[in-house]
Amino acid sequence: MDSLDGLKAELLAAVTAAADGAALEEFRVAALGKKGRITGLMKQLGSLDPEARKERGAALNQLKDDIAAALDARQTALRAAALAARLEAERIDVSLPIRPEVTGRIHPISQTIDELTAIFADMGFSVAQGPDIEDDFNNFTALNIPPEHPARQMHDTFYLPDAADGTKRVLRTHTSPVQVRTMRSVKPPIRIIAPGRTFRSDYDMTHTPMFHQVEGLVIDEATHMGHLKGCLIEFCRAFFDVDDLPVRFRPSFFPFTEPSAEVDIGCARERGTLKLGNYGDWLEILGCGMVHPKVLEMSGIDSTRYQGFAFGMGIERIAMLKYGIPDLRTFFEADLRWLKHYGFVPLDVPNLAQGLTR
Ligand code: DAH
Repeated sequence: MDSLDGLKAELLAAVTAAADGAALEEFRVAALGKKGRITGLMKQLGSLDPEARKERGAALNQLKDDIAAALDARQTALRAAALAARLEAERIDVSLPIRPEVTGRIHPISQTIDELTAIFADMGFSVAQGPDIEDDFNNFTALNIPPEHPARQMHDTFYLPDAADGTKRVLRTHTSPVQVRTMRSVKPPIRIIAPGRTFRSDYDMTHTPMFHQVEGLVIDEATHMGHLKGCLIEFCRAFFDVDDLPVRFRPSFFPFTEPSAEVDIGCARERGTLKLGNYGDWLEILGCGMVHPKVLEMSGIDSTRYQGFAFGMGIERIAMLKYGIPDLRTFFEADLRWLKHYGFVPLDVPNLAQGLTR
């Protein structure tokens, strides 16, 4: 019987010579496939006598295993080499400066949220969140707006089907329910802002069905209206970057605060343009007040011990004012030309040390 050593050497050399996956597969079929050389030798075993068949069979099996192992090893090596070649070809130098013309832009809403967060964070506020789909109770009742209260009509609410347990649900019409969720889940002192999406069924130049608000809430034992005023005056001047910006508090009404106020900032309206500053005219930008004792009690806070203030403002509105964006609806049209014009460079993260916008 001829030795298999020569054949083995020949086959191993062919494995090593296979330059890619396709060549390797071709070799595998030629050696181990149905009509392959080793398979052919196996088929001849039947003509041998039992003793010789046993010996030859074992040798052929060994050969088959050796060749299969060599194939595997070669395949692994070829894959590793292909990956290395690809990594080399697609190598990027991460230390190169970015090319501004190919980077995306930060949407003015995101930018404005980052800016106001930087200002309030500096005053010791943290950021709280709540869900877009809210219980009717948190959105209204817990804020002292009981069923049938006229304020409910003003909200143009999107009502949703009841939850499985019968809970009435809405798309939140303001960020104020985050006040309720926060008071229920953490103990005073509380100092939070809650930026987020809000929804009302309304659409024109100044209303979109989805828009953004930021809510603020401060609760502790000694906070009073003076703190509310100081905090919001400071915010307005920092945000609009006008040191002597006039800020005025005008008595108003909200069910969840008592007393309540609306805040106006100084401006000038000249030939269709708006300028912020000490020019004698006024523009309303937010609502605020001392949290109503009933609201505190409904969220499990002892109103004889704790008090505080809250405020809420529209994020699109202050963004439009600061960046001169004339039409609210354009915020949500996803027009790349608009975003290129009004958007912000991603690496300029707003912070108070370097200025909010550069
Ligand atoms: N939730 C009010 C709205 O959507 C805004 C608001 C006003 C929030 C006064 C407050 C507040 O927390 O004190 O119109």
